[in-house]
Amino acid sequence: SQNRLLIKNGKIVNEDDIIEEDVYVEDGIIKEIGRNLIIPGGTRVIDARGRYVIPGGIDPHTHFEFEFMGTTTVDDFYQGTKAAIAGGTTMIIDFAFPKQGESLLDAYYCYREKADSKVCCDYGLHVALTSWSDRVKEDMSILCSQHGINSFKTFMAYSFMLNDSELYSVFEHCKNLGAVPQVHAENGHIISKNVDKLLNKGVTGPEGHEMSRPEEVEAEAVNRACTIAHQVDSPLYVVHVMSKSAGFAIKQARERGVQVIGETLVAGLACDGSHYKNPCYNHLAAHVLSPPIRPDKTTPQFLMNLLAQDILQLTGSDNCTFNKNQKEMGAKNFSKIPNGVNGVEDRMSVIWEKGVQSGIIDPMRFVAITSTNAAKIFNIFPRKGCIAIGSDADVVIWNPNKTRIISAKTHHQAVDFNIFEGMECHGVPEYVIVNGRVCVDEEQLRAVQGHGKFVETPVFAPFVYDPEKLSDMRSAKNGTINEIELSNKLAKVSSIS
Ligand code: URP
Ligand code: ZN
Ligand code: ZN
Ligand code: ZN
Repeated sequence: SQNRLLIKNGKIVNEDDIIEEDVYVEDGIIKEIGRNLIIPGGTRVIDARGRYVIPGGIDPHTHFEFEFMGTTTVDDFYQGTKAAIAGGTTMIIDFAFPKQGESLLDAYYCYREKADSKVCCDYGLHVALTSWSDRVKEDMSILCSQHGINSFKTFMAYSFMLNDSELYSVFEHCKNLGAVPQVHAENGHIISKNVDKLLNKGVTGPEGHEMSRPEEVEAEAVNRACTIAHQVDSPLYVVHVMSKSAGFAIKQARERGVQVIGETLVAGLACDGSHYKNPCYNHLAAHVLSPPIRPDKTTPQFLMNLLAQDILQLTGSDNCTFNKNQKEMGAKNFSKIPNGVNGVEDRMSVIWEKGVQSGIIDPMRFVAITSTNAAKIFNIFPRKGCIAIGSDADVVIWNPNKTRIISAKTHHQAVDFNIFEGMECHGVPEYVIVNGRVCVDEEQLRAVQGHGKFVETPVFAPFVYDPEKLSDMRSAKNGTINEIELSNKLAKVSSIS
């Protein structure tokens, strides 16, 4: 039956152990883990010998069907989640982004409507704060208590950036709600000055993008956001940490007791700035995102080391894709190039290659930074982010010995360019099981539109608000939790809101 699945002989990897046992899945849930399991007849058996059995990836940062900088990203919730699955990611968390004058609640409804019927895998939402007012404050409370939102993204750059006093109020409000305040940390005022100066000097090409927002402009904002969060005693989640200086600012903040979580991007872990030598406008423009990819060759490995040391905790793609014709909007002025790159499909393989294959992290840390930590921070652990009895059957059978070469010619995204073009990666998802359904089957993609569901993310995540509670949750992985215990646990967490 397609509702029953036995994964045999694989090595199950969770964030804290690797065991050689079988996994039995029924009706979308992991029902049993062990050896010599007694299984009903008619169950499909997949032999995972020589493979790792890992929790499906969770990409905490995507922008599907996003209206931004005068245009709309080409990967929508169908193409985007389909590509995610092809690469071994079984959940994404996108951003509901209010349009000019739109309320947060309306933005949330708008994104639910865009996504619900299209998603091939489960998804969650952060909500972006593009202004600050009593109305925004009230809507945040409603989103947390009634709609399963627990994270809000603020901006220190772009026209809709908040000032320090507004950030202070947002972080304080998030703390009271038990939500996670996120920040895009770049100093927008300095960037505007630099953009004007560069354009006046005649620097109009894409190289001006990085020149206008060098890494200390990122690090200054990271440090300032950490200081503000510390002053109101709130946690803080810094999205897309893209430079050594910004990573160092996070390290220092953690050392002085700021409860800061750092996310870096697969673009930052893989791209070493060699593309800056390419004279072609389209090639350069395709690599434009904010904060920028650094021209410094040593940055990717530095960021991977920060992940290894738990100074950074998780990895996203910030998938925000624009085609060549859209990137051409900035042909005469780099500040008009729509910001964003691909990554949702290739994140798992690229991080495996740069992290595990290169010997910087082990498979357990790989699972932590691609799945478990996102589940914990956004409070859906142990339902997701681990291979445990009672968890959703979002499971990837990962072959570390196979390789593939990334190319826009073969990827499943809508976008016409791939910033990882030509990269050879070890680590191929041979089977991707999404809520119990085999959506990559012997490397063949069989994603189903509408198969995914919106996943509520309850407030007061223990990992964020009470790190001591973590040890409780770990018992889930030893197979001691049954379904009833699990749902009680989840109910308890959601009743706090
Ligand atoms: O360049 C980027 N990162 N585009 C997406 C919007 C954002 O700031 O995350
Ligand atoms: Zn951002
Ligand atoms: Zn080119
Ligand atoms: Zn983003």
